[in-house]
Amino acid sequence: MNHDIPALRALAVSLATSAGDLIRERRPDRATVADTKTSATDPVTEMDRSIEEYLVAEILRARPDDAVLGEEGNDVAGTSGLTWVIDPIDGTVNYLYGIASFAVSVAVVVGPPHPEWWTVLAGCVHDVVTGRTWSAGCGQGAGANGVPLTPVAPAPLSSCLTGTGFGYDSARRARQAQVLTKVLPRVRDIRRLGSAAVDLCLLAEGTLDLYYERGLNPWDMAAGSLIAAENGAEVVGLRGTKASGEMTVAGRGPAVRELLNILEAADADRD
Ligand code: IPD
Ligand code: CA
Repeated sequence: MNHDIPALRALAVSLATSAGDLIRERRPDRATVADTKTSATDPVTEMDRSIEEYLVAEILRARPDDAVLGEEGNDVAGTSGLTWVIDPIDGTVNYLYGIASFAVSVAVVVGPPHPEWWTVLAGCVHDVVTGRTWSAGCGQGAGANGVPLTPVAPAPLSSCLTGTGFGYDSARRARQAQVLTKVLPRVRDIRRLGSAAVDLCLLAEGTLDLYYERGLNPWDMAAGSLIAAENGAEVVGLRGTKASGEMTVAGRGPAVRELLNILEAADADRD
């Protein structure tokens, strides 16, 4: 089936940026935790909830036959085979603490809405603090603020500024810390910026050279993985698998294989 990818991309951009406007408008001086999810340190704020509700309503208004999968659970079934995979605030801890680097992530996928089976058709990540807006359409390249991204040259592993992130579960974090001891001595440095969606966009434009993380949810990675891939990055999992919650690695050139070797030797895809 043919999909109008430019139109889907334009809708993703309009949804993510209008949600960003609402967050900027409604943001209290100090956000508070409304609830917790997978662990006591996995917060939900009223803003996460209200922005997801806003996005679901706007998606259904524009595309009544599509399904929606959202971080806060306002899922909707559809009949078209397309699913909007949305994260109202990726980087909720940053939002809570008033630290820059949190974003709205909106993507539309065809196929089961899981990274192992989906094809991401279009996506947008809108950084709420800087206003920077990355987007991509499948097979149509990636851009930021409406300007196509330029090609990025690969860097040797030892020069790679490497983004990563950690889960909310304490046992998972202990493993991630062990894995980090194998990666950190081999790369330029590590950045844990706090939004996987933004990390993938920074990797796309070459601000980060490499990225890896275990434990991403579909909404953390849907838009960012397309944006990175559409600007020439490899986005993969370990041991020949597709990028997924098991492990997502993104980068360019031989450094990707070298990082995969380190992560595979460390069993970084196992808790
Ligand atoms: C989290 C962020 C973080 C990543 C976590 C995600 P949230 O999403 O993307 O950078 O390390 O794995 O869960 O909870 O802020 O929406
Ligand atoms: Ca998220």
